[in-house]
Amino acid sequence: MRRIRPAAWLAALAGFFVTAVTALAYTAAQADAGQQVFVTVCAGCHGLTLGGGVGPALVGPAFRTVWTNAAMLLSYVSQNMPLSAPGSLNADQYRQVVAYLLRQNGIAPEEEPLTERSAVHIRLR
Ligand code: HEC
Repeated sequence: MRRIRPAAWLAALAGFFVTAVTALAYTAAQADAGQQVFVTVCAGCHGLTLGGGVGPALVGPAFRTVWTNAAMLLSYVSQNMPLSAPGSLNADQYRQVVAYLLRQNGIAPEEEPLTERSAVHIRLR
């Protein structure tokens, strides 16, 4: 039983930490830049309105349930997209395009930019 205690303590601490940093998201400037990336690189397969095409839709409840947090989404996109040339964008562009996906999925921008670290705290479901 003693082993459970640290886990419970950590869970409580994690809960507090997530609450304390909910202001972390992405900036409107990142999402604006990300829209340009999306239109140029992604829209051909995912649709201009993100409704899907060759690739799946990138908006809506079904999309959001795929991702626990924005870090998973950022990691997936950085490693796998664009499908025709994975990893071909730079790190800033990947953050920007994910910021755009967050905005289109109803997550509001904040003061702090999206980074790999802050993305962990942005929940999609
Ligand atoms: C050549 C077509 C193509 C391009 C260009 C492309 N994608 Fe995709 N994308 C796909 C396909 C097909 C899938 C489904 C892959 C799978 O299920 O294994 C996918 C899957 C995804 C997923 C996962 C969706 C889910 O619900 O599982 C995301 C997120 C995504 N793409 C984002 C992007 C972004 C952002 C870009 C631009 C940087 C991009 N894609 C460019 C074809 C494309």
